[in-house]
Amino acid sequence: MRHPSLLPLMIIILLCYIHSTVSGSSNHLIQQTCKNCSETDPNINYKFCITSFKSDPRSHCVKNLTELGLLSIKLIRCNVSDTRIHIKKLLKKDKLDPFIKECLDDCLEVYSDAITSLREAIKDYKAKRYADSNVKLSSVIDACTTCEDGFTQKNGVVSPLTKRNNDTFQLSAIALSIINMLNEDKLKDTF
Ligand SMILES: *[C@@H]1O[C@H](CO)[C@@H](O)[C@H](O)[C@H]1NC(C)=O
Ligand SMILES: *[C@@H]1O[C@H](CO)[C@@H](O)[C@H](O)[C@H]1NC(C)=O
Ligand SMILES: *[C@@H]1O[C@H](CO)[C@@H](O)[C@H](O)[C@H]1NC(C)=O
Ligand SMILES: *[C@@H]1O[C@H](CO)[C@@H](O)[C@H](O)[C@H]1NC(C)=O
Repeated sequence: MRHPSLLPLMIIILLCYIHSTVSGSSNHLIQQTCKNCSETDPNINYKFCITSFKSDPRSHCVKNLTELGLLSIKLIRCNVSDTRIHIKKLLKKDKLDPFIKECLDDCLEVYSDAITSLREAIKDYKAKRYADSNVKLSSVIDACTTCEDGFTQKNGVVSPLTKRNNDTFQLSAIALSIINMLNEDKLKDTF
């Protein structure tokens, strides 16, 4: 065993997996939530929502909407980190068109800010400051639209980041949608 430290984690995931396969509870929660999200927000595709959650083994362990919401923000963070690395790689290419380079520089900047926003969004979310978390996640939506829009400023240019921008956009919309559901519950409790 070369990575003994991974063993406990693997066992937990396996146990969760067995548990969820037997009870099907996390499955049901994900389906219900994705159904709600896609019905209330036309930007969210039901299949995309399901696939995104299922692609993460931690989704087998989620017990309620609060935990699913946190997972959705973590999925955005993974996406954004990966996209930053990808943009840096694209910027290293030889003979980069100056316009494309400018766009990629802008994208790198907004996505770097998005990492900070996501860190804060997670902190706010955990403290149940849902309105604050909402603001920070909205800025992530702005980041991917700003990045994508940059490329459209010149005719004939194709954005190399369309799929990634779209993925981040949809994931953020899912997280915002879940926050809205939680906020409604919270308001109901208060009044
Ligand atoms: C989905 O929406 C319905 C009605 O809007 C609500 O009753 C239900 O609790 C929601 N489901 C989830 C998982 O939030
Ligand atoms: C971003 O998230 C989506 C949905 O989970 C996934 O399909 C896609 O592969 C992710 N992209 C990257 C670069 O991680
Ligand atoms: C979900 O479970 C966590 C504990 O695991 C709890 O703190 C949280 O309030 C629960 N959320 C809902 C909506 O019941
Ligand atoms: C993202 O892509 C999907 C299909 O791949 C499309 O239906 C959707 O309109 C796109 N969303 C945005 C905001 O571009």
